[in-house]
Amino acid sequence: MDLKVPTIDFRKSSELEKGNEKWNLARDEVYKALEEYGCFEALLDGEIPKERLYEKLKQIFNFNLEKKFGNSQNVLVGYTRDNPRIPLQERMIIDNVLNHGVIDNFSNILWPHEGETEFSDLVLTYSKKLSEFGDMVRRMVFDKLGLENYLDEHKKTGDCLLALIKYRAPKSEETNVGVPPHTDKIISTILSQHDQHVNGLQIMNKNGQWLDVQYSSPHSYIFLVSDCLKAFTNGRLHCPTHRVIMGNEERYSMGFSTIPKEGYIIKVPEELVDDDHPLLYMPFDGSKYLPFYLSEAKRGIFVTLESFCGVSVNISNLS
Ligand SMILES: [Fe+2]
Repeated sequence: MDLKVPTIDFRKSSELEKGNEKWNLARDEVYKALEEYGCFEALLDGEIPKERLYEKLKQIFNFNLEKKFGNSQNVLVGYTRDNPRIPLQERMIIDNVLNHGVIDNFSNILWPHEGETEFSDLVLTYSKKLSEFGDMVRRMVFDKLGLENYLDEHKKTGDCLLALIKYRAPKSEETNVGVPPHTDKIISTILSQHDQHVNGLQIMNKNGQWLDVQYSSPHSYIFLVSDCLKAFTNGRLHCPTHRVIMGNEERYSMGFSTIPKEGYIIKVPEELVDDDHPLLYMPFDGSKYLPFYLSEAKRGIFVTLESFCGVSVNISNLS
């Protein structure tokens, strides 16, 4: 097993058409990477206004954000800082980022009088481009698994969320852990960071080794499988444990996530269950998984996908 997350070049993605040779090659690379590592580095074209958005983001983190948003200790809502579990992180969330009016509302909180439009335009373009890329990855996975019939339905089951994140460098006596080890409890995330040389993200491979995730180019993004996608594929895709370890420099990153819509029942398609692949996960409401995880974590209990909906756990509970 390579000690490096695979890199896949999508900068000529307009040449990828379902069924053509380039599509099949890219699809197989994507599937193999997600099966082995649960993630890959994607090189995407320069039309995504990533650098300009990061420049804006650096300005915004100099605002008094606590005054503008309040300080939510719920990492999924609004603005969070000084969370004792992740003290180095400051984070803003734009939930339902692609829904009409959401970005403008967020922008109006940041600039209530100036009529700022550049930020809104950048966030919208960035989010739309990554949403399109995420759709393509999902199409490739479904294509590989022969699940095309499920694609339309599956597309309707996710909401989009953009997390805007700053990590400060730790003080000398402080922890260097930006985010402790965890798996994501949602569907998938596409990560980026402002400076390809300021590393921090690490994923654990299947052998239990921590790998530094390298952003090898200014056009790099990391596609990361979350627990709900692993469950839907009956464990075919790997969902990697990951963490952030800080060096001496501050770090900015963005996570564009697909999260399960309320009431979305994640159920393994029957096509993915046979003698060689017994059913691993019971159906569950994907939108309830993360809130349950967070509420249990407050009591010191760490819920995993297996303990939440694993077939073997549920059977042993019955007996
Ligand atoms: Fe994560």
